[in-house]
Amino acid sequence: MHILHVVGARPNFMKAAPLLRALGQFPQLRQTLVHTGQHYDAAMSEVFFRQLEMPEPNVNLAVGSASQALQTAEVMLRFEPVLLEFKPDWVVVYGDVNSTLAAALVASKLAIPVAHVEAGLRSRDRTMPEEINRVLTDQVSDLLFTPSADADDNLRQEGIDTTRIHRVGNVMIDTLVRLLPHATLPREIAGSERFVLVTLHRPGNVDDLPWLREMLAALIEVSRTAPVVFPVHPRTAKSLAQNNAAHPQTQNLRLLPPLPYLEFLALQQHAQVVITDSGGIQEETSYLGVPCLTVRENTERPITLTEGTNTLVGRDIRRLRHELERALAAPRQNPRPIPLWDGHAADRIARILAEGP
Ligand code: UD1
Repeated sequence: MHILHVVGARPNFMKAAPLLRALGQFPQLRQTLVHTGQHYDAAMSEVFFRQLEMPEPNVNLAVGSASQALQTAEVMLRFEPVLLEFKPDWVVVYGDVNSTLAAALVASKLAIPVAHVEAGLRSRDRTMPEEINRVLTDQVSDLLFTPSADADDNLRQEGIDTTRIHRVGNVMIDTLVRLLPHATLPREIAGSERFVLVTLHRPGNVDDLPWLREMLAALIEVSRTAPVVFPVHPRTAKSLAQNNAAHPQTQNLRLLPPLPYLEFLALQQHAQVVITDSGGIQEETSYLGVPCLTVRENTERPITLTEGTNTLVGRDIRRLRHELERALAAPRQNPRPIPLWDGHAADRIARILAEGP
């Protein structure tokens, strides 16, 4: 059997790495790895392949950045001949980025079965490109691997045949569990420091300049109480530069370049509180037991609100300040385990793919 994996953007890599390893235990399987090139900077891609010990991609489609439609279309155009050449038995796609949907569409139209890892998550916010990607990818997938019961419910409500749905747990947490012992703080940060960690990259936050400026002003204010460490995503950096927003580098607000996996993991582990709009970070902080304030009105990962450490603060600076003060004052809680977020999700997927459901 031949399994072809498609990855494209940073959050895909931590999800594919454990499945590539787990499937490697089945000698009868052949694996091919395709990188769409949606993310291409060494700091957004290559360093993750190295730290996660992933094999070099067999094919790189080198699509790069473009508008939503163009990027999705480029992946489709360049992926179709690859599928025709490799003729895999399964195409495995991950998460909710543009590369995920593009690859799933191409495979399903060539009648090649599609397996979607991290299926069923829904924010019910169709202004997010990721929500469109999730809904459509799930509709054309033959096997849907979900991280939590809410995802199963969403899929059933959308009429997906329940025999296709397999709750396996969270593959991103597999990577975290394996690599936590190797997490290393970046040189700039001392181990004893108490700090607030910030990441922002959603178009809804960083492409809206007045709002981005308001958030930066709030972070500068916070940095008077606790140092703020802010690795800046390329989209955010571009938005700041294009709009001539002042770079608010102060002694206590430290803007860093995008960080490798192990360094960012250590920052999450040591942070007093994390402010983010990322999906994966809501999950990782929940696993680590670190309070997380999510600057969004909704989340496709509600389990991080009910069983994890996540709080939605919306686009509300007063709420953000209030929740931050609370989190900084509160003692650290012991993390509560979330069912199946145990480091073995990829083993469960591998067994189903290799031996059948
Ligand atoms: C994409 C995903 C998002 C995910 C995020 C993680 C979609 C719709 N969005 O958003 O779900 O959370 O990745 O990072 O697929 N850029 C670089 N170097 C790179 C890649 C991008 O400089 O290696 C810059 C480009 O200016 C580009 C911008 O970042 O225009 C945005 O990149 P893009 O891949 O379009 O979306 P992300 O915001 O990264």
